[in-house]
Amino acid sequence: MSETMQSHYARTDLVEKLLDDLAKAGHDPKALQVTDLGEFDEFHVGKREASTRLAPLLDLKQDDTLIDIGCGIGGPARFFAEATGARVTGIDLTPDFIEAATELTRLVGLGEQVRFQLASGTEIPFEDARFDAATLMHVGMNIEDKQTLLSEMARVTRPGGRVLIYDLMRIADGELSFPMPWASFARFSFVDREAVYLEAAAAAGLTPTERISFHETARRFFDPPQENSPRSTTPGRPQRFENARQAVRTGIISPIARVFTRQ
Ligand SMILES: C[S@@+](CC[C@H](N)C(=O)[O-])C[C@H]1O[C@@H](n2cnc3c(N)ncnc32)[C@H](O)[C@@H]1O
Repeated sequence: MSETMQSHYARTDLVEKLLDDLAKAGHDPKALQVTDLGEFDEFHVGKREASTRLAPLLDLKQDDTLIDIGCGIGGPARFFAEATGARVTGIDLTPDFIEAATELTRLVGLGEQVRFQLASGTEIPFEDARFDAATLMHVGMNIEDKQTLLSEMARVTRPGGRVLIYDLMRIADGELSFPMPWASFARFSFVDREAVYLEAAAAAGLTPTERISFHETARRFFDPPQENSPRSTTPGRPQRFENARQAVRTGIISPIARVFTRQ
């Protein structure tokens, strides 16, 4: 399964392409800052806008520790590090992403504060209570075994620490069309209802606190105001983006953030 998930996300020359896009957008690739990257390095609905809303809920202070599970190319990890002063460890199962995350972090000068390593969220290679907080941003859709995932997140978080999950969750029955941004085929997609997360969290010793629906953010994300039109598809957009957009528009899935406190 993970091989197929990894090949879904695999990309070569990620950093070169990203630096190219940044230059085209008017940024100086030789003087890169975390603030320049927000539109390019966060792979979840709402990108930097969503991370900015979520960061304060982590309750982190200078030199606290955070683990970001399924960190992608490290956008959320770098942003949370800058926003809170925490030391961040990102783990991900896609080698290309870990390589790009490490290089981008070096380029913005955060190499000491933010580290990455290849590992799975269902087998986190750290000891119990090692971190002050744990985050998971748009990764649960790739993981079938939510109980093991939540139990692992709880295990590595200290008592009293925060666990944040921000995923696309199922809010109604209805068939999803594939490819989706997180999976090329239905058999590799594990979009679940919020109740599944809540049950797994309770069994893992996590008490729910805040809840934020990002439904409005998603509507703007998939249909930016200048692009509002009666057309059902927008030429040039990848099919996986269009399929996710339709699933949000028809009310089958929605991005939801849940915060928990480790008992
Ligand atoms: C949609 S991306 C989100 C990346 C990042 N969290 C962000 O918001 O920018 C999903 C990520 O989850 C990773 N992933 C999927 N299953 C995983 C697992 N079992 N353990 C760790 N990472 C996983 C993928 O490699 C990919 O980088």
